[in-house]
Amino acid sequence: MKRSTVNRYIEIAKKAFAAAGLHLPPFAYWTVEDWKNKGPEVDEIRLAQLGWDVTDFGSGRFEEYGRTLFTLRNGYRMDGSYNKTYGEKFILNPPGQRAPLHFHRSKMEDIINRGGGKVFIRLYASTPDGKCSEEPFSVSIDGVKHELEAGSVVCLEPGQSIYIYPGLIHQFWGEGGFEIDGVCYTVSGEVSSICDDWHDNCFLEPMERFPKIEEDEPRVHYLCHEYPPAGMNA
Ligand SMILES: [Fe+2]
Repeated sequence: MKRSTVNRYIEIAKKAFAAAGLHLPPFAYWTVEDWKNKGPEVDEIRLAQLGWDVTDFGSGRFEEYGRTLFTLRNGYRMDGSYNKTYGEKFILNPPGQRAPLHFHRSKMEDIINRGGGKVFIRLYASTPDGKCSEEPFSVSIDGVKHELEAGSVVCLEPGQSIYIYPGLIHQFWGEGGFEIDGVCYTVSGEVSSICDDWHDNCFLEPMERFPKIEEDEPRVHYLCHEYPPAGMNA
């Protein structure tokens, strides 16, 4: 995907999150230039891969399969253990764009409709070999247990949330929401156990978690997997 698309969607996300009343921490606004002055005091941001995360999952079809996320907090490995056991993200849902069907080996997450329009989630139990099961399953939506058929789509109104447990196949998207430059966006939140995007995601179709980027214009913000290592900030 193009850097110009990454830059544009980060700016849209800032506006949509603000419309949802969600404020971002200072590092959301640090530019590539700002990072030149950062030292080891910001290592948690680098190591936990906090910050902007825009991806087309290697699909080349960002309008269809993509995500613009901001990771506010996350655990990371330090001396063989995690120093934090939880994570949180804000997620932009443009119309027509969805995450690919996937499940997590170990992460549990609550997906929350943080405002705008409706957030939809398609769900399947998984088979032992990681495919969509045709069996019914149960989920918890804001503390209430529901029995669902395979492939059911749950609709979350603003403020509602669903608990996605390890192995539950899910795909989500939004409809309606906050209008920005003539397009409507919803905002989701994710509160989870540690998110290890390098090892914990199982996609039902071949997908790459992080994009290959064509540098067609200057980078404004580093993505969460692009930060320069400590001591090599330039
Ligand atoms: Fe997920």
